[in-house]
Amino acid sequence: MRTHTKHVLMCTGIRCSENNSNATTLFEQLGQKIDARPHLKVKRTRSNCFAVCKNGPIVVVYPEGVWYSCKDEQVLERIVSEHLEQDNEVSEHIFHRLGSGDV
Ligand code: FES
Repeated sequence: MRTHTKHVLMCTGIRCSENNSNATTLFEQLGQKIDARPHLKVKRTRSNCFAVCKNGPIVVVYPEGVWYSCKDEQVLERIVSEHLEQDNEVSEHIFHRLGSGDV
């Protein structure tokens, strides 16, 4: 396995969003955005459920332990360009943080 500095998990489960095909499309777009930035050392993984099941698709970024509500491609682009690429969290779309509960 290649060296990664971040791990991004995205839920594509059927209860996560009103339109599940949206989650699948966003997951594919996440892969395209990461691949378009070869300098990023990010591993992407699909999940079926994080047991929160609303306001999804849910995107979780580690090692920060930040949980995002990622409703559309615009939010996804901000997560990739601001958080993954520049280490600036997109605070207005964070709903939970590892170790500190909901925010
Ligand atoms: S289906 Fe996405 S968190 Fe449960």
